[in-house]
Amino acid sequence: MSDIRVCFPDRPQFSGFMKPCRVEGDVSQLEVYGEIPKEIDGVFYRVMPDPQLPPFIDNDPWFNGDGNVSAFRIKDGRASFRQRYVRTEKFVREREAQRALIGKYRNKFTDAVEFKVRSTANTNVVYFNGQLLALKEDSPPYAMDPVTLETKGLYDFEGQLPSLTFTAHPKFDPVTGEMVCFGYEARGDGTPDVCYYSVSPTGKFTEVVWLVAPVVAMIHDFAVTDNWVSEPVPRSVCDIQRMKQGGEHWQWSPETPLYLGSCPSNVMQWFQYKNSFPGHTANAYEDEQGHLVIDLGLSEKNVFFWWPDAQGSAPEPSSIVSQLVRFTIDPQSEKRALSKPEILQHGNSEFYRIDDRFATCPYRHCYFDLMDPQLGTDLERIGPKLGGGFPLYNAVAHFDNVTGETEVYFPGDVHLVQEPVFLPRKDSTTEGDGYILVLVNNYETMASELHLLDTRDFTRAQARILLPVRLRQGLHGSWVDGGDLNPRTA
Ligand SMILES: [Fe+2]
Repeated sequence: MSDIRVCFPDRPQFSGFMKPCRVEGDVSQLEVYGEIPKEIDGVFYRVMPDPQLPPFIDNDPWFNGDGNVSAFRIKDGRASFRQRYVRTEKFVREREAQRALIGKYRNKFTDAVEFKVRSTANTNVVYFNGQLLALKEDSPPYAMDPVTLETKGLYDFEGQLPSLTFTAHPKFDPVTGEMVCFGYEARGDGTPDVCYYSVSPTGKFTEVVWLVAPVVAMIHDFAVTDNWVSEPVPRSVCDIQRMKQGGEHWQWSPETPLYLGSCPSNVMQWFQYKNSFPGHTANAYEDEQGHLVIDLGLSEKNVFFWWPDAQGSAPEPSSIVSQLVRFTIDPQSEKRALSKPEILQHGNSEFYRIDDRFATCPYRHCYFDLMDPQLGTDLERIGPKLGGGFPLYNAVAHFDNVTGETEVYFPGDVHLVQEPVFLPRKDSTTEGDGYILVLVNNYETMASELHLLDTRDFTRAQARILLPVRLRQGLHGSWVDGGDLNPRTA
């Protein structure tokens, strides 16, 4: 036992605000400064990678930790908080062994024991058919009770799930409630197979399509319109031999183009663009000409700098910039080389969210994290407490696709922001009429805050909800309206 690490490595991703949180618990009646409108009734779920135990891999990336799910219940002008780890196979077996057993990120050949499923369930939480699904793209979902956050277990949709993997970014048809998903490396590590599936709101698989990607690469997010699915394939590629030798699952490949595949049925058309790194999708739709409009974040550099190229080269993290861009694709065109996308918003941005009632449709409003050094964040002051290994954003922005204007909410000079989420205003059907919730890291108090913005007065917080704990950088989450929750759970 003497070689088992009992403290986290002295690395940026395990230091300062990035020190693992490792807390489970409940806090009722969080402190509220300002006012939470009484009409808001629902739950904001989000998940963070949060290693319960020190890894035995020395330089484990920040997002290889166990999924720890936070739920903020907001009702009657008050907010309460609950947090539970997802009881994955990894979590349960490591807790029992009192040590880390899993090895490198998505490399089973480096594990201390053999796992049936390596999921960390740490990337997204979505509510579907009465259950909360905790997602990691290398595995099926884990199902959780949306109220107690108790883990029910690995979820294969009653045996219907055709692939070994399930995306962390499923899309929902706002009209039908259908969930459209995919899995890549769908037949196992290193396989080029991609499997798409549509699931009815009651959980029945209605369509399954198998495809083969041109390279085995990380397909983190995708885009869905009425008739098409599109997947941006970046240059992080897999080599099973490298993995067997203890190397990384992903390696940056400068000679591989960005592929953008579009598929109306079971034949994928692969369009190409110069080497670049696609980030998250904001939205996609078909325009009047039948062209596909896909809005997403795009960077010219390797955003996952912790997985360098074969020569070990990676960009300096502070030099990486991502912008909100628009690809417009004529799917009938014989031309496979894509033109330069339109830059919709020039800021350094990511974590794009919309009014989800307009997903897959022409839309106007986009909300996202922004890094603008001119806003006055005191990086010198917060630097020693920052930790590292993750991208920094100091504001939330609202971009209007019609006017081209951007509004910015700056939470303070010792604050950084995590992903925002949009909540529609009660009884309003107008796109973008509602609220934004965003988790804010306060580097002075070293605790987290939830800031509530009214989109009619975007630049100031309507309420600041204080937590007595520090929630490490997380990834994605969802707002679930109280009326949409299972009646059993509301
Ligand atoms: Fe993501």
